[in-house]
Amino acid sequence: MGVNKLKLAVLISGRGSNLKALMDACADEAFPAKIALVLSNRAEAEGLKFALAGELPTVVVNHKDFPDRLSFDMAVHAEIVKSGANLVVLAGFMRILTPEFVNLWPGRMINIHPSLLPDYKGLDTHARALADGQSEAGCTVHYVVPEMDSGPIIVQKRVPVLPGDTPDTLGERVLEQEHAAYPEAVRIVARSLLK
Ligand code: GAR
Repeated sequence: MGVNKLKLAVLISGRGSNLKALMDACADEAFPAKIALVLSNRAEAEGLKFALAGELPTVVVNHKDFPDRLSFDMAVHAEIVKSGANLVVLAGFMRILTPEFVNLWPGRMINIHPSLLPDYKGLDTHARALADGQSEAGCTVHYVVPEMDSGPIIVQKRVPVLPGDTPDTLGERVLEQEHAAYPEAVRIVARSLLK
């Protein structure tokens, strides 16, 4: 492997627990990635505190400062390029992305989603899985393509749905798996991109 590492731009909007899981993974010298930038579209995103505590470069690009999606996305793109990152990691980044932006990072943008894709794209995944009486739920890390919550799957992890589960209890069980799935996916992506 040598010293060659992926440089991640991690994009967040909120809590940042997946960012934290990636930071913990990066603390291992042997992990094939380091974080070059943490970008949030919300100045109040709690996840920024992890980034500051870990002395990672952070930037806020507030979507409300832009007239349309494309100009916001291009500002985000410019920050990623400036950081030197070569893999964009969406970690609870709750913005719909323009195809123009997505197509600037072919094979170099990944997302984590709290369902077993292709089931339950979009929001409220756990409530919908419970309403449908599913016996299993889970999370998916996938390459980002212009169509939302689609694109080739890199890692999927499953959990059982238990009697009495609420969207919150199921969500916690899934989130634990997300924190294992994202570092695992970055290792897999690194194997192909660092060849
Ligand atoms: C995670 O559950 C992630 O899968 C989900 O948002 C949460 C972010 O949590 N992402 C999506 O729903 C994307 N459509 P975190 O901020 O603690 O990482």
